[in-house]
Amino acid sequence: MKQKQVLFVVAECQKFVQTGGLADVAGSLPKAVNGISRAYKVRVIMPLYRTIIKKYEKKLKFLGSTTVSLAWRHLYCGVYTMKLDKIDYYFIDNKYYFDRDEIYGHYDDGERFAFFSKSIFDSFSIIGFIPDIIHTHDWHSALVNIYLDILYKKNGRFAEIKSLFTIHNIQYQGIFDLSFSDDIIGIDSTYCEIIEYNGLINLIKGAIVCSDLVTTVSPRYAREITTAYYAHGLENITRIYNKKIVGITNGIDIEFYNPATDENLAVNYTDETIEHKQQNKAALQASFNLNPNLDIPLICIISRLVAHKGLDLVVDQFEEIMKEKVQIVILGKGDSYYQDKFQEFMRRYPGRVCTLIAFDINLSKKIYGSCDFLLMPSKAEPCGLSQMIASRYGTVPIVRAVGGLYDTVKPYNDGEGGGFVFKEYSGSEMTSAIKEAINLYNNKDKYQELMKKIMRTDFSWNVSAKSYLQLYKELIKNK
Ligand code: GLC
Repeated sequence: MKQKQVLFVVAECQKFVQTGGLADVAGSLPKAVNGISRAYKVRVIMPLYRTIIKKYEKKLKFLGSTTVSLAWRHLYCGVYTMKLDKIDYYFIDNKYYFDRDEIYGHYDDGERFAFFSKSIFDSFSIIGFIPDIIHTHDWHSALVNIYLDILYKKNGRFAEIKSLFTIHNIQYQGIFDLSFSDDIIGIDSTYCEIIEYNGLINLIKGAIVCSDLVTTVSPRYAREITTAYYAHGLENITRIYNKKIVGITNGIDIEFYNPATDENLAVNYTDETIEHKQQNKAALQASFNLNPNLDIPLICIISRLVAHKGLDLVVDQFEEIMKEKVQIVILGKGDSYYQDKFQEFMRRYPGRVCTLIAFDINLSKKIYGSCDFLLMPSKAEPCGLSQMIASRYGTVPIVRAVGGLYDTVKPYNDGEGGGFVFKEYSGSEMTSAIKEAINLYNNKDKYQELMKKIMRTDFSWNVSAKSYLQLYKELIKNK
């Protein structure tokens, strides 16, 4: 049987450029799927950002160029490729759109990713294959599924392509005013109904309508987004299309995140040598100006500093939490409100709080490998990876039972589950969970048992990659 080709279309991917969890998934799921099946081959395509050119200039190979039409524009599109960790990556080049310092946050992001999405179809003749399945992620590539359905399914060569759309976070929908349709993406008003929602263009809505299948990054989130609280206005759409929305929990790359080999740690350890982890804690306390004390529980927050991560609860409860014997490390960047608050806490509690405003994978690994607890009180959490990464490093998660956190962290309950869990979005509930965690920490034997248990839990992609493969097969079967 001929090998089936799957093309991942993403705006970010680990080892190239990363601002959040999407890049983790794009960087590890293709490898996992390719690892379990020869019948399917996943490759990845993304924009050629400035940082990628800088990092991989010598490895990138130019494949060819073409002209892409986007409404009235005719735009240069170069295609590059390189192989990394056995995966074939392709890159769409257009200096005007992508040779910039930041990958998002520009006034013309809509146009930039519309160009990227449109160029995918023009790139097939250059990359040398037409995918059987296109698998897109979040609003940046949602237009691919829309173009496929509206424009290209009518074209003989592309008519057979199936499309899968993964929602990593329904909060970011790709919303633009109505002129976007005609002027930027070149879709005329006949199709407006598909991409219009509440008087605006909404790309996530369009992708849900146009895709053959939709996934969310956890089963719980698939259910949550049919309710108004979590759907950010799209609940009517997710309810109508509920049958084609499937939740598959993300995994993590357990080689990339491995305390036994991680070079960022002062000392490596496994579940059997877990006592060594204390040396990392000592090193971290020393380098982060925290009081040297191995008996005091060290809690970390490793997160984008944005509201849906539940940081209001942390800000509100900070004084209350600091009444306990604890130290806190915060690593992340985002809204200046939270950045300022957490920096203020560091000034207010010298030796007890350390705030680092950065997105830094290596530093995050060092922190996972040195702390006792991870706090993740999210208001909404499509999947969440930090709780799984923390567990892999024996760092016990304290989470709100929402989305993927609900699916991956079961309440400790005297040894049953792998973390501390609270339900309501309430500061006092969060603080009670933290106190419960500290209580257990003071019972060294039980705490160690829990650390070992979570380190042994399988958070790899094994199970989820099989589920994706199953979906790919279903899509092909229905061809
Ligand atoms: C988004 C979500 C997060 C998820 C990640 C990867 O960043 O907010 O919950 O883990 O995507 O799917």
